[in-house]
Amino acid sequence: MPLLIICNLSLYRFAESVIPYLVDYGFDGLDLDWEFPAWGRFRSKPEQKHNFTLTLQALRETFDNYTEKRVLPKYLLTTAVASTIPLILGCYEIPEMSKYVDFINLMTYDIHGFGKTTPFTGHNSPMYSGQSLLDKTIFYYYNMVNIDFIYELWVEHGMKKSQIRVGIPTYAHTFHLLSEKSHGLYSLATGYNTTLGDEISRALICKLLNDTSFKQVWDKDCAVPYAYSGTTWISYENKQSVYMKVKWILENKYGGIMTYSLNVDDYVGQQCGEKWPMHRNIFNAAKKYSPIQ
Ligand SMILES: *[C@@H]1O[C@H](CO)[C@@H](O)[C@H](O)[C@H]1NC(C)=O
Ligand SMILES: *[C@@H]1O[C@H](CO)[C@@H](O)[C@H](O)[C@H]1NC(C)=O
Ligand SMILES: *[C@@H]1O[C@H](CO)[C@@H](O)[C@H](O)[C@H]1NC(C)=O
Ligand SMILES: *[C@@H]1O[C@H](CO)[C@@H](O)[C@H](O)[C@H]1NC(C)=O
Repeated sequence: MPLLIICNLSLYRFAESVIPYLVDYGFDGLDLDWEFPAWGRFRSKPEQKHNFTLTLQALRETFDNYTEKRVLPKYLLTTAVASTIPLILGCYEIPEMSKYVDFINLMTYDIHGFGKTTPFTGHNSPMYSGQSLLDKTIFYYYNMVNIDFIYELWVEHGMKKSQIRVGIPTYAHTFHLLSEKSHGLYSLATGYNTTLGDEISRALICKLLNDTSFKQVWDKDCAVPYAYSGTTWISYENKQSVYMKVKWILENKYGGIMTYSLNVDDYVGQQCGEKWPMHRNIFNAAKKYSPIQ
């Protein structure tokens, strides 16, 4: 992204250039989705971590100055952030970030997906760690842990709970099982389902699940479902997993909920029987568990 190579002066110039977009389109702020500072090919440049903080600082100052001058509603500055241990510790100056952002959108999904080094099934957004030996050993260090742990980690390192918005996926990950006889959690997979794609929308999930050949399984340790049929395996959310997540978010006093994403929910309602089934579940659960009634 172009942000990575700009000097300090143009950092402020960049921040200034954002304002007309906010004004002209009536946006309420800016969300940065930088995946991820000082990571990937920039891993050898740890100063990018600080540069990210400087970017947030420039935006915050510019937004606040602008608000003061024009008496506009305060513009929001938010950023989508990582949910794995090495990324959390490697990419962010958390206490400094906390000074500048209104909130972070924590991407607690894609925690498992098919990969060459992870050729097995796994939950997209497990709420708790499983009980298997694998969960307690290699997966723990392989940075694939439960969301309960991830949020604590952000808080321990300096983000305020009220600034953290918890990400809930509305899509599913698919896997292609090595053998249809082995269809549990952490079963070997050869890839994702190439017909469906790696990630599928809520509408497609409903379509698949309505087909009775799919067996739905509730993993009570991790508090999420999965389903399989033949050599196809999917990790998704259902009403129960969403209600449990929302209850946990509110009881633990996190700042809110973020979804990824609106446009992969069944907004037409053609396959799920109602429009916006996932967002409706989240909304209803929030109403049910909100301390303010
Ligand atoms: C970090 O910011 C400095 C100063 O703006 C710049 O010179 C440097 O190239 C940036 N580093 C990276 C890795 O982008
Ligand atoms: C914000 O306003 C202060 C006071 O007018 C000024 O010193 C500062 O340079 C401004 N910062 C930005 C980013 O506009
Ligand atoms: C993907 O899943 C669908 C639904 O189970 C199935 O009909 C299709 O054959 C699968 N595709 C592959 C390449 O396995
Ligand atoms: C799938 O099942 C739901 C719930 O029973 C139903 O409302 C919906 O119409 C079904 N969708 C299709 C495409 O059959």
